[in-house]
Amino acid sequence: MSSINYSEKIPNNVNLAEDRTLQRALEGWQPNFIHWWDDVGPERSTNHEVYLRTAVSVDPSGWAQFGHVKMRDYRWGIFLNPGDAEREIHFGDHKGEKAWLVTQGDTEPASVEQQRHLGLTAPSMYDLRNLFQINVEEGRHLWAMVYLLHKHFGRDGREEAEALLQRQSGDVDNPRILGAFNEKTPDWLAFFMFTYFTDRDGKFQLSALAESAFDPLARTTKFMLTEEAHHMFVGESGISRVLSRTAQVMNDLKTDDPARVRAAGAIDLGTVQRYLNFHYSVTIDLFGADQSSNAATFYSTGLKGRYEEGKRTDDHVLKGQTYKVLEVVNGQLTEKEVPMLNALNEVLRDDFIKDSVAGVGRWNKVLEKAGIPTRLVVPHKAFNRQIGALAGIKMSPEGQVVGEAEWAARKGEWLPTPEDFAFVASLMGRVVEPGRFAGWIAPPTMGINRQPVDFEYVRFG
Ligand SMILES: [Fe+2]
Ligand SMILES: [Fe+2]
Repeated sequence: MSSINYSEKIPNNVNLAEDRTLQRALEGWQPNFIHWWDDVGPERSTNHEVYLRTAVSVDPSGWAQFGHVKMRDYRWGIFLNPGDAEREIHFGDHKGEKAWLVTQGDTEPASVEQQRHLGLTAPSMYDLRNLFQINVEEGRHLWAMVYLLHKHFGRDGREEAEALLQRQSGDVDNPRILGAFNEKTPDWLAFFMFTYFTDRDGKFQLSALAESAFDPLARTTKFMLTEEAHHMFVGESGISRVLSRTAQVMNDLKTDDPARVRAAGAIDLGTVQRYLNFHYSVTIDLFGADQSSNAATFYSTGLKGRYEEGKRTDDHVLKGQTYKVLEVVNGQLTEKEVPMLNALNEVLRDDFIKDSVAGVGRWNKVLEKAGIPTRLVVPHKAFNRQIGALAGIKMSPEGQVVGEAEWAARKGEWLPTPEDFAFVASLMGRVVEPGRFAGWIAPPTMGINRQPVDFEYVRFG
């Protein structure tokens, strides 16, 4: 069950050949996927040969194989973690599953679209390869969702699978479903923040679904999680390298003046903090409204668990339990207790926040080691929110409710300004000779798959 059949047109470990109808349907979808990749996938990359890892088995011991391949020849396919003979869906009317699959499926191609121009301004060949690896894996995640839609949801599912290739990130008429996936990823600082924070949203959503009683979904998401880990690594290490370079420039020049840091071609810490504030706040919106009857239904019907449901020691039913959510009363933030079942979006958001904060602590270690006293912080949970009870509240990153006037006056201290974007954009030149790195980012400590840092990760065609 766990080895992958690569002799088929669609590599898979689900015995696709035994289900001719499904196989034909997916083979019909495949050319549309390639079209989509050619149209809105990584720009001007068709003939590059990229040192990519491809899944050869879902076994933890040997799932990846590395080699130079053209991205449109990447063996996108359908891989589920092994399980017992497939269980039937045993609850509900499947509406919840489909809605979730479509929403998750929509985010996968969206991020590829958002990142399509970044290859033209890569800070190194190593980074370029990592971008492309993430892009092909997000493409495979789309495959994973499309397989489930085709297999389990009949004609409706097939139509939804088509629509996944029709919506487009940022499109005025037919945008992607979720806000953060219609935002631009204009530069590599944004890309690293996105892969640190927004791919981590993916981790938490997938982890909740890995608990699903809908067994094929649980097994699919478990395998997706192994790929997601690399995306978050790219973000975390990317920001660490930015900080390392900035700290070096600050020490060399003995300055913390952002203008001098910028003049030396590094990204000042204020700009890093404002990017962090933006990506963090739009990402925590992805968890949805603080109180949601849908969230309660998804949990109670066994579609979606909590993060690490199996490690929790409560009754796993949660009836009669409460959870604290925030609201603003008379201009003050206050906590209120609500039924936990209705607050499961908030529970997952809070787990995400704990996980995010840990990595920000590791970023601060880079500054600490370099003797720089500045620290990055995640903003208050209510800062810059657009979804749920806190939507539209004007609040400082420290959690003080502020008036319109103060918000307008200080917004530029808290969120990236047009000048910040223009400055970061001005640094984005293309550096792609093996072993060379743009001046605003330090080299990584190690290469990919034990290759040297100056390995030829991309052969340009
Ligand atoms: Fe993904
Ligand atoms: Fe991802």
